[in-house]
Amino acid sequence: MVAHIIQADKISKHFTLGGRRVHVLNDISLSVAVGEFVVVAGSSGSGKSTLLSVLSGLDKPDSGRIELCSMDITSFSEDQLAPIRNELVGFVFQAFHLIPSLSAVENIQFPAELRKDKMAREKARELLAKVGLSHRAGNFPSQMSGGEQQRVAICRALINEPKIVFADEPTGNLDSENSEGIVELLCKLNAELNTTLVIATHSHSLAARAGRIIHLCDGAVEEGLGM
Ligand SMILES: Nc1ncnc2c1ncn2[C@@H]1O[C@H](COP(=O)(O)OP(=O)(O)OP(=O)(O)O)[C@@H](O)[C@H]1O
Ligand SMILES: [Mg+2]
Repeated sequence: MVAHIIQADKISKHFTLGGRRVHVLNDISLSVAVGEFVVVAGSSGSGKSTLLSVLSGLDKPDSGRIELCSMDITSFSEDQLAPIRNELVGFVFQAFHLIPSLSAVENIQFPAELRKDKMAREKARELLAKVGLSHRAGNFPSQMSGGEQQRVAICRALINEPKIVFADEPTGNLDSENSEGIVELLCKLNAELNTTLVIATHSHSLAARAGRIIHLCDGAVEEGLGM
């Protein structure tokens, strides 16, 4: 039997825009196995970011049920979700959400400090080196380029070695060299630590590395191997 780390059952989500209801996710059911590398594809506005937010527990669906590691997180309180967000799941946002008053290395070590990891600073420095940003350790987000902030945000998502990484366009702001570096880092996590990856992207080269592609279209999913 395949162990599923993510199980979504008939999830729906709508937004109201200018008095009109927009159904972004319509009764979507999907499951992701432990160690899978899944890409979520679909045109702009198709609901990729919304799906990632709901699957990871950052946002609640209107209806339906989501299990992460066999825990039904749909019924979880904010207090119950906090350790899930900090330890089980790593999230790379499309807009990076770095803390403006913290330097690069401080932003990265923050989730590790929350769990009182004494190696937080050292691990943060190691991650910065892996993404080629050691020279930016002491800089604040406002002093970094979009691509640099994106790499810091990726390091922050990885510091607690989450079992699942949700990444929303993780290479969207990067040149091809840095983009390839991030793809290698994520693939290495997947291969060596069996980290489950769920990545929303328009990138064909990233999709080419995935084991499975979930296409979002009109609120529904279609599965396929290509983009
Ligand atoms: N907070 C919100 N309030 C109202 N509408 C929203 C909100 N968030 C998303 N939407 C709408 O939901 C739809 C899906 O948005 P979403 O951000 O999930 O798309 P996406 O596939 O990630 O797009 P992109 O490729 O441009 O990042 C869009 O029509 C968007 O306008
Ligand atoms: Mg998006």
